[in-house]
Amino acid sequence: MRLHSLQLINFRNYKERTWEFGPDSVVLYGPNGIGKTNILEAVYVATVGRSYRTTETADLIRFGAEEAGIILQFTKKDTPQKITIRLAAKGRKDIRLNGNALSQRELIGTLNTVLFCPEDLQLIKGSPQQRRRFIDMEISQTSATYYHQLSLYNRALQQRNRLLKEYAGQRSVPLLEWDEQLATGAAYLVKKRLESIKKLNLLIDLMNRRLTGGKENLQLRYEQPYSAQGPVTEKDAFLQLLQESLPRDRARFTTSVGPHRDDLGFFAGPVDLKKYGSQGQQRTAVLSLKLSELEFIKSEVGEYPLLLLDDVLSELDKERRANLLQFIHNRVQTFITTTDSEDMTGLSPAMLIACREEVTADD
Ligand SMILES: Nc1ncnc2c1ncn2[C@@H]1O[C@H](COP(=O)(O)OP(=O)(O)OP(=O)(O)O)[C@@H](O)[C@H]1O
Ligand SMILES: [Mg+2]
Repeated sequence: MRLHSLQLINFRNYKERTWEFGPDSVVLYGPNGIGKTNILEAVYVATVGRSYRTTETADLIRFGAEEAGIILQFTKKDTPQKITIRLAAKGRKDIRLNGNALSQRELIGTLNTVLFCPEDLQLIKGSPQQRRRFIDMEISQTSATYYHQLSLYNRALQQRNRLLKEYAGQRSVPLLEWDEQLATGAAYLVKKRLESIKKLNLLIDLMNRRLTGGKENLQLRYEQPYSAQGPVTEKDAFLQLLQESLPRDRARFTTSVGPHRDDLGFFAGPVDLKKYGSQGQQRTAVLSLKLSELEFIKSEVGEYPLLLLDDVLSELDKERRANLLQFIHNRVQTFITTTDSEDMTGLSPAMLIACREEVTADD
């Protein structure tokens, strides 16, 4: 995957701006608030059709403008491609690949990227929702079916929860149809998640050792808070769980079992990093996870995705930083933001700073 150019029109603080990129990694540096993250955000929007920083499309449109545009030219397996996205404050997004309209669902998987931003450093200690989102987006980038099944599952879940409220106080709730759909979806989603975690686990420990030069072994574990004996993966088992949880679900108006409640655990040997991990251990673990994600996507898609590193270099110590940069060098086209070009000191300039562009916003 190689990004050749990016054009932004009325996107965030950019009125109209085009960047051309060479094959090498790109360092975007400049003072706070100049618009470095906005560039990475635009590439991310072209990856999944929405931002990771806001749920409101209007936030992405330059103050006072009616709509925003993002145009990316890239090659995927040596085939030139062009994504064009038009964002309007009201109304639907217009997404096109080589001129042909796509839905947001169809867009996912077209441009592959891995984003690593400061919020990710909270991944291990943060909410389970963040970790579910990580695993869901990772699989969705390589499987359109997964993303579709996930949307169907979430829709069925909303319907079930709505009925739990609507039939409050009544003798029974007509849930059969939704339970069937939920159980089918749950079995599919959990199996796919387990499969991808298995693949990530083959990589993550290796990455972790490489980064620390260390002895610690790192493993991911799939956790289902409602199951004491290993992950539930079969439809019938989910149907049974849904039926068993009905009294509790009716009391709380919410569905207490299923992949929307599952979680990802990070273990260094027997130690649960969520509970006991030091700051440094967590940072390294997240970084190892991101690098494993790069390899995962490569193994599924056939080439490395783009890597977007927002402000994370300054969060890593010298050794980890050097190990990271050495890993991506000549392997992954990487877009790095930093306020401080000093961040790059100690590294051979040929290693990454082929395009060292000062980012300046218009007007
Ligand atoms: N919709 C918008 N219209 C115009 N300007 C916007 C809009 N949204 C954000 N901005 C401006 O974009 C700037 C922030 O850009 P960005 O987050 O990319 O900065 P940055 O260079 O990454 O800074 P830092 O180094 O602090 O992370 C702010 O000045 C903000 O006012
Ligand atoms: Mg920033």
